[in-house]
Amino acid sequence: MSDTPHDTSSSNKMWGGRFANSPDAVMESINASISYDKRLWRHDIIASKAHAKMLCVQNIISQTDYDSILSGLDAVYSEIEQGKFTFSPKLEDIHMNIEHRLSEFIGTAAGRLHTARSRNDQVATDTKLWLRDMIDIVTTLITDIQTVILNRADEHFDTIMPGFTHLQSAQPVTFGHHLMAYFEMLNRDKGRFIDAKKRMNECPLGAAALAGTVYNTDRFLVAETLGFDAPTRNSLDSVSSRDFALEYMAAAAICAGNLSRLCEELIIWMTPQFNFIKLSDAWTTGSSIMPQKKNPDAAELVRAKTGRINGNLLALLTIIKGLPLAYSKDMQEDKEALFDTVDNLELSLTAIKGMLSDLTVNKDKMRHAADSGFCVATDLADWLVKSLNIPFRQAHHITGSLVKYAEDNQLTLENIPLNIMQNIEPLITSDIYTVLNVESSVNSRTSYGGTATSCVKQQINERKASLCQK
Ligand code: ARG
Repeated sequence: MSDTPHDTSSSNKMWGGRFANSPDAVMESINASISYDKRLWRHDIIASKAHAKMLCVQNIISQTDYDSILSGLDAVYSEIEQGKFTFSPKLEDIHMNIEHRLSEFIGTAAGRLHTARSRNDQVATDTKLWLRDMIDIVTTLITDIQTVILNRADEHFDTIMPGFTHLQSAQPVTFGHHLMAYFEMLNRDKGRFIDAKKRMNECPLGAAALAGTVYNTDRFLVAETLGFDAPTRNSLDSVSSRDFALEYMAAAAICAGNLSRLCEELIIWMTPQFNFIKLSDAWTTGSSIMPQKKNPDAAELVRAKTGRINGNLLALLTIIKGLPLAYSKDMQEDKEALFDTVDNLELSLTAIKGMLSDLTVNKDKMRHAADSGFCVATDLADWLVKSLNIPFRQAHHITGSLVKYAEDNQLTLENIPLNIMQNIEPLITSDIYTVLNVESSVNSRTSYGGTATSCVKQQINERKASLCQK
């Protein structure tokens, strides 16, 4: 049935009153967002129900119309849920697709649902409602990874590996300590999403097109019904702002950057040259030509997802830049970028969880690697400072000469004979050898947050307790 008072059969059914003709096919295709914004359907219906309830409570629509709107929206809901709904590009977007179908179910009462609202406040509300749920998903996924990290770090709190700076062997650390670094990074990532959700939690619905509405609405009731803290305070801002989406996307870009670093490490550690870890067949792929290969494709792809997640952030920043208040259709372009970020971040986090659970550690290889590269050189210098009261700069220099000697003679620092050491610094005693093995190097780093096994245990225990509290 038609919900318009006069024949506009060739123009848009929802806004075609003043249009005599239908749009150009290209106009229709550039304008339509239904192919992607249909994923907002659930939240669009939830928001419509809250709006209709308020219209009824405020006597803006009758109880009868409210009842029929509610049952009609339920009918649309189950039709979409069962995959029986036909989404039409002619109806542009999810809002008009749903409202149009509602009118087919309940007739003229459907036309009352759009009283005191506009698609401008509607889309902002739907997107916020949806993104709020997505934040719950992303924070759960991060917590899942953190739980895996805690378990793996516990398993490897004393597994020694070389720590790197500039990807050159620097000082020995434990694998558990290294993993816990990612726990901390992910914890801040999670915090950024949680913060974004707090700021996001104001309801734009009822701002209408841009200026508010002439009806005696109760925006506080709508906000409360939808679980928002309050309505947005300014109607122009309500329909013009997408910084809530930008905050998610910025947090996602930072998080993806962190994940890409972990992936880069997994990839390096998996090379036959490093051979620190293995991923099982579940997380690797073969080569169609080189039978020996086991490639870390999932890690590489998570590393690469950072590119599109960063790109999506830049896309939306660029879309918003310079847009005059209030709504412009440019803002419809927020969605594909946002959806793509959400989907790829979720996929990346899930893959990371899988890989971290799956990986096996080649402890011997890690331990052996910690012996090469003169990882205990700083310990030697620190011994000169602590035992002989030599200024650190000078101790650094003496140690440098010993490293050079060891390198020229293919020795480890531990294997340099005492008389050679004394040729370089006569006050050195045999006590120096107690600090020249990687175990003592690790376990002497007991400063808060350091790599000593006791400190790593402490970090793990503190974080286990804080994760349980959430
Ligand atoms: N599909 C539109 C969007 O995503 C909904 C708002 C349309 N508003 C309008 N004034 N044409 O932005």
